[in-house]
Amino acid sequence: MSQVGKAELYVKKIRNGTVIDHISAGYALDVLKILNVTGKETNTVGVVINVPSKHIGKKDIVKIEGGELKPEDVDKIALISPKATINIIHEYDVVEKKKVSLPRDITGIIKCGNPVCISNSKEPVSSLFHVQEVEPIRLRCHYCNRTMEKKDILKQF
Ligand code: CTP
Ligand code: ZN
Repeated sequence: MSQVGKAELYVKKIRNGTVIDHISAGYALDVLKILNVTGKETNTVGVVINVPSKHIGKKDIVKIEGGELKPEDVDKIALISPKATINIIHEYDVVEKKKVSLPRDITGIIKCGNPVCISNSKEPVSSLFHVQEVEPIRLRCHYCNRTMEKKDILKQF
């Protein structure tokens, strides 16, 4: 069995739920935070960190038995893991596979780190960032030019 095949032995296949695969290595716990998984829930959750991947060197995987992702969760995952794949599992089969997508402009998901930015004022202006770098992510605020890096983004989740 290949290295990649062996990685699958760390956590068994799930029956029904969601597998988030190809998470950037080391970010599985941040994905759990985005999903509000605290460990106090009753469903089974599998987490694999730093396994060899066919596509991206090393990767993390999160498997949530009985779990479903909200669209805003998928958008947040795209910010920290632009190559992540969301697999919907039904009776052990992958019935849907989609890659997360990072738009060139990001609106509303995170706040600008500049407290005096107009997007943080009482004006009805929602946040708007332009993606400058994808991995590691770097965003630039449309209104005040403040740069937001991965660590700044993670603090908000
Ligand atoms: N998986 C799982 N439980 C299942 C089916 C799949 O946990 N019942 C997991 C697999 O272990 C893998 C991911 O879901 O991590 C995607 O499964 P699959 O599409 O079969 O794997 P690959 O072909 O390797 O996926 P990709 O082409 O996206 O790399
Ligand atoms: Zn700003």
